[in-house]
Amino acid sequence: MKKLVQWTFNKAGYSLVKSPSLEAERRHAPSVTSLPDIDAQSNEEYRQMSERFFGKGMPRDLRNVKLASIYPENDEFFQRCFNALLQTEAEFVQRLIDDQAAKGVAGSFVEFGIYQGAWIDRLFRMTESAGLTDRAIYGFDSFKGLSKPHDRFDVSFWKEGMYAASRAEVERNLNIAERPRIKLIEGYFKDSLVRKEAKAVGDVAFARIDCDIYEPAKECLEFLSKRLTHGSILVFDDWTHDYGVGEGRAFAEWIGTVPHLNFKFLFLGPWDHLHLRVLHRDKTDIF
Ligand SMILES: C[S@@+](CC[C@H](N)C(=O)[O-])C[C@H]1O[C@@H](n2cnc3c(N)ncnc32)[C@H](O)[C@@H]1O
Repeated sequence: MKKLVQWTFNKAGYSLVKSPSLEAERRHAPSVTSLPDIDAQSNEEYRQMSERFFGKGMPRDLRNVKLASIYPENDEFFQRCFNALLQTEAEFVQRLIDDQAAKGVAGSFVEFGIYQGAWIDRLFRMTESAGLTDRAIYGFDSFKGLSKPHDRFDVSFWKEGMYAASRAEVERNLNIAERPRIKLIEGYFKDSLVRKEAKAVGDVAFARIDCDIYEPAKECLEFLSKRLTHGSILVFDDWTHDYGVGEGRAFAEWIGTVPHLNFKFLFLGPWDHLHLRVLHRDKTDIF
C-alpha cells in the first residue's frame, strides 16, 4: 500500500517529502516576527495587504488547506479525495491556459524549481492540449536542490539541498530528447538568470515559482518584471500566507518595483498554490 501511495503522489506531481504530515510540520513552524517594513503578521494586516496586492482579502488561516479526513493517508478513500483535489487544480490550470490561447496571450512558459519535472511535464501536456505547440517551456533548476534558506526570511522547515534531482534523471522523466520545446537551464538562479540563455527567454505567458524559499523567489520575480505579458499567469507553489517570510515576502518586496503591473487573484489550490493574473495597467482587462 505504501508503494501505491508513493506512486500516486509522484504521478500527481508530489513526493512524499511533501506529505501531509510534513505539511503539518510546516504549518507549525514558527513564523518570523518583528521584521522591518513589511511586518504583516496579524490576520487583519495580512487580509488588507492581500486585498491591496491582488484584490482578494484572504485570511491567513487558509494555509495548507487541502484535505482533512478521518481516514489515514494510506486509506483508499483518502487517496481518492486527494486525487480529486489535484485533478480539480489541474483542470483549472488547463482552463486558464485554454483561455490564454483563445485570447492570444503571448509568451513562453517557465518554471523556476522543477525537481523531478512533474509540473513541467504537466505544463507540456497542457500546452499541447491548448494547441500552444509553438511555445517554449523553460525549466530553471540548480539540479542540486534548494540553495541556502535565509536565516530570518525563511521558516526552519526548509534546508539547503532539499529536493535535489540530477539533470540526467529530469531529462529522462521529461523525455527531453523527443520534446525539444522543453529547455532546461541549469544553475543557481543568481548565476543562471543572468546568463545569455536565460536572457533569450523573452516574453512570459505563464510562470510557476516553485523554489520554496525567499531569496531565489525574489530573483525569479526580478527576472520576470519586464517579461510578464498582459494576461499572463503567475503561480506561487509555496505561498506563505505571510508577507514576512518566503515567497510571500519576496512578492511583497517586489510588487513595489513593478508599478506597470496589476495582479488579480484567480485561485488558491491545495498545497498553497496561489494563482494570480498579471495585467498591464495601460491595457484593457479582457480577462
Ligand atoms: C519543491 S522543488 C520543485 C518541485 C517541482 N516544481 C515539481 O513539479 O515537482 C524545489 C526546486 O527548486 C530548486 N531550487 C531551490 N533553490 C534554487 C536556487 N536558488 N536556484 C536554482 N534552483 C533552486 C531545487 O533544486 C528544487 O528542484
